[in-house]
Amino acid sequence: MPDSAAPNTAPTDTDRAGVPTAVLDTIRTIVGDRGILTEPTDTAPYAEDWRRLYQGRASAVIRPGTTAELAAVVALCARSGTPIVPQGGNTSMVGGAVPNEDGSELILSTVRLNRIRDLDAADLTLTIEAGVTLKAAQLAAAEQGCLLPLSISSEGSAQIGGVLATNAGGNNTVRYGNARDLVLGLEVVLPDGTVWNGLRRLRKDNTGYCLRQLFVGSEGTLGVITAAVMKLAPQPKETAVALCGVNSAEAALSLFTRFQAHDAASISAFELMSGLGMSFVVKHIPGAVLPLETPAPFYVLVELASPRPGAGLRDMMEQILERALGDDILNDAAIAESDAQRAAIWRLREEHSEAQKREGASVKNDVSVPVSKVPGFIRQATAACEALLPGVRVVPFGHIGDGNIHFNLEQPVGSEAAWFLAQDHVIMDAVNQVVREYDGSFSAEHGIGRLKPYMMPDWRGGTELALMQRIKAAIDPGGIMNPGKLLP
Ligand code: MLT
Ligand code: ZN
Repeated sequence: MPDSAAPNTAPTDTDRAGVPTAVLDTIRTIVGDRGILTEPTDTAPYAEDWRRLYQGRASAVIRPGTTAELAAVVALCARSGTPIVPQGGNTSMVGGAVPNEDGSELILSTVRLNRIRDLDAADLTLTIEAGVTLKAAQLAAAEQGCLLPLSISSEGSAQIGGVLATNAGGNNTVRYGNARDLVLGLEVVLPDGTVWNGLRRLRKDNTGYCLRQLFVGSEGTLGVITAAVMKLAPQPKETAVALCGVNSAEAALSLFTRFQAHDAASISAFELMSGLGMSFVVKHIPGAVLPLETPAPFYVLVELASPRPGAGLRDMMEQILERALGDDILNDAAIAESDAQRAAIWRLREEHSEAQKREGASVKNDVSVPVSKVPGFIRQATAACEALLPGVRVVPFGHIGDGNIHFNLEQPVGSEAAWFLAQDHVIMDAVNQVVREYDGSFSAEHGIGRLKPYMMPDWRGGTELALMQRIKAAIDPGGIMNPGKLLP
């Protein structure tokens, strides 16, 4: 239906869940029956986050099938003052895609915007809609001999729109950068329902403010990303993966320095795991087996990749590891000899969050420090947390190659989950105090969401936060886009 037929008044009659019935009825005429869910049993899974930190309530989940439908819904919400929570795969670690508890917000899901619009293997570009999962996008690129060089543990569910809205990082940042570095163009529905088509595929385009980067990392507070042009890379022709056991984070860093000195350009991932984190994976994830003879205090997963056939990565890996073994940097290592072994090693890393969840309640600190400071940070933050909460189980892991550590804390054995989670701010603040001493960031790749806006004044206050607030007010004057997220 045309926008002009939508109600133009502020809510008066509200349905049982908070959004005016007239608004929901009009939305139904825009998106059709399959584009709107209103039954609480249908909407509930969308209203809770993956970590189960937030149980929100939405009067409806809207699932438009096209950008035009989505734009018409947003225009209607703008006129009726209805707040919107944009949602992709709902894999946020910080409650960035869940509504509040009073039912006054609508969830706007991109799940049905799932078309691959174009793949140009010569230009190395992929134009896709927001609801395509990261995994599906990777596979589409691979089918044409290309690589979408972004990989995160939740890639089977995370959707491109959310990946960009949160500027996801992941395992390959060390080589290819974050999501922000991989986007050439965007299509965005603005908070008044206008569609901005910025789907350009250019490597160079120096024409004023870089608008696409404003929306990348904005966590749905400035508009809804509906499609994107992603930069591809040539597919690797050779890959080598190893799992290494080391005694300390210092040793892990020394190993990284050695790989860098040898051939920095071939490192596509360099990941750190702790002995405790690995023991949770082996305990809780069916089929997970440590391919080393003896457990170690820390583990490193190193992946080398090259688009050049015959690059000799397997030999290079072996040589570097052998020397490290001789120099007592390394305890033990297993180099994958098949795709299946490679996948099994990666699984040990990627199941870390899931295993931790199965072990019990955890408080996550997604922090970054300069790469050279990671070992010092881990030592000091561990001491601070153990002093604060005797018995707490420290599980640091993550992307040591780019300085991003998930400094996660697991509840003490035998403690109450609720008691532990109630102390999340105290714990996060203690960790962040160390992060500050190490010139780091309190949120490296998970964003701010609903969990961390309270930290913003302290970390980004003054001119920075004021600028962000002015941008928000200019683009979303009605404040309808993802209220309560990102900004305090
Ligand atoms: C990961 O890298 O696996 C996730 O970002 C980590 C987390 O659970 O904190
Ligand atoms: Zn991560």
